[in-house]
Amino acid sequence: MSFRRLHPEQPESFEFTPENLAWAKEVIGRYPKGREASAVIPLLMRAQEQNGGWVTEPMIRTIADMLNMRPIRVLEVATFYTQFQLKPVGKKAHIWVCGTTPCRLRGAEELIKVCKRRIAEKAHTLSEDGDFSWEEVECLGACSNAPMIQIGERVYEDLTPERFEEILDEIAAGRWPEPGPQNGRKSSEPLGGPTTLTDESLFNKGSDAEALIFGKGKSARKTVAKKPAAPEKPAQETEAVATEAAVTEAVGLADLAQAKTPSEEEVEKAAPAKPRLYEAPPEKVDDLKLISGVGPKLEKLLNELGVYTFEQIASWGAGEIKWVDDHLKFKGRIVRDKWVEQAAALAAGGEEEYVKRFGKKPR
Ligand code: FES
Repeated sequence: MSFRRLHPEQPESFEFTPENLAWAKEVIGRYPKGREASAVIPLLMRAQEQNGGWVTEPMIRTIADMLNMRPIRVLEVATFYTQFQLKPVGKKAHIWVCGTTPCRLRGAEELIKVCKRRIAEKAHTLSEDGDFSWEEVECLGACSNAPMIQIGERVYEDLTPERFEEILDEIAAGRWPEPGPQNGRKSSEPLGGPTTLTDESLFNKGSDAEALIFGKGKSARKTVAKKPAAPEKPAQETEAVATEAAVTEAVGLADLAQAKTPSEEEVEKAAPAKPRLYEAPPEKVDDLKLISGVGPKLEKLLNELGVYTFEQIASWGAGEIKWVDDHLKFKGRIVRDKWVEQAAALAAGGEEEYVKRFGKKPR
């Protein structure tokens, strides 16, 4: 472990904000009298957050007083755990890049090169604009999705250097891309979907396995009747449209509630189908950047192609996504970031509908 000490330049004082002070008192109150020191880590974390991401000496003294500890004990905690930063970090993001073996084998070295080129040659150094800083850390527990980075509570996995650069662009522009795997897979499932427990008789009602577990004729589970799958539409080339009405007509409002991004396999199998495109900007142009995963650069590319509205994107099926991917080289991000559902929500009811469906505001 590297040698960790407090930054030579320290502020005069530290005080919790009234809200954080009330929160700190509540946390301290959770511990029995005489054991208040147990609250040292949460208090340091909250103080660090309040102070723009780093721990100062006055902060250590303030927390020591509050917990009836000697300052050296609080300093020991702050210098032992690398979650605590002891010098100023990037205003927008301090990036942890995992450099342990599984991540190394899967390309962490390339991510570190991006940090050196885009942020600063040396770790723990601020970028020129002061917005970013980085450091290499030990395993962060997401080895099956290596290589990965963590920024605060957000974890970005299955990264390539290109995707990492895009994430940095987004953060620099004040937006947070959706965390999690960045290659379209769910959690740590295999890329093409599950490869085990795919035999439905193992878990379907009336199966031998169920009889074995629950006894013959007894069912401990309710099964939900599956809707018959809708016949697949043949993918075809469609004509470009010039009027707003034509696009609106193509995606009825009722359809917006059902709009769903096709899976990676569906897109893979589909024949490219040209989506409906505008020849010139329509009267009402949507802010496509509200879709998580679409930044200013991608919005420009989409507009150049003739895509200006949420309704257009909400209408895309597997063939259209393949066509757009082929033309703009989005490398699967339309599926990965679920553009169709996002666009459908925004088209159906704007930000309010988006919050209802996704539990958070659009970017
Ligand atoms: S080795 Fe990188 S997360 Fe475990």
